[in-house]
Amino acid sequence: MQRGRVCFVKNIILIGYMGCGKSTVGQCLAKMLDFTFVDTDAFIETQQQRTISDIFAIEGEEKFRQLETDLLKQLVKEGREQLVIATGGGMPLRNENRELLSKLGMVVYLKASPETIYDRVKNDTQRPLLQCDNPFAKIQEMIVQRAPVYQETAEHIVMVDTLAQEVVAEHILGIFQDNISKSRQRNGY
Ligand code: S3P
Repeated sequence: MQRGRVCFVKNIILIGYMGCGKSTVGQCLAKMLDFTFVDTDAFIETQQQRTISDIFAIEGEEKFRQLETDLLKQLVKEGREQLVIATGGGMPLRNENRELLSKLGMVVYLKASPETIYDRVKNDTQRPLLQCDNPFAKIQEMIVQRAPVYQETAEHIVMVDTLAQEVVAEHILGIFQDNISKSRQRNGY
């Protein structure tokens, strides 16, 4: 940090399982704050000129995971601020990514039940990991594995099952503003 510069939370990062609402909530939040919205999946698809399903099918999941890491490194290196970042559901799985996410700003986990997730993604064909015989069982199994990682990575957890996505965005906005006031108080503003 530069001398004399007050360090406020710079960005908001949304993590959580597929279908928990990261992109919709993120867009809403970006609008409320007049921040730039970044969807890591969409960014990678544009950069690679192919869909995530194609990247998984042709180059494999590891390649996709590396592209996710590369993108986070790029954002950290550029010192980007005033972003709301909606991450792919697997982004926090790598240790390295968890550190990069925390460097970028305030990480919020949108926590949803397998039932909510299934309801939202059951007709989706664009998520390669859920193209299987029993997507509900897969969702249950993956959430059990991933929930501790999401929890460990996030500074804040928002339970989204019963909330409209705009309400989730307002809630996160409140947390963010609260963080800024606390930071100002700490720095004597
Ligand atoms: C994935 C989630 C997807 C996408 C990819 C892998 C995952 O993003 O990154 O299909 O491992 O959970 P969403 O969470 O936006 O669906």
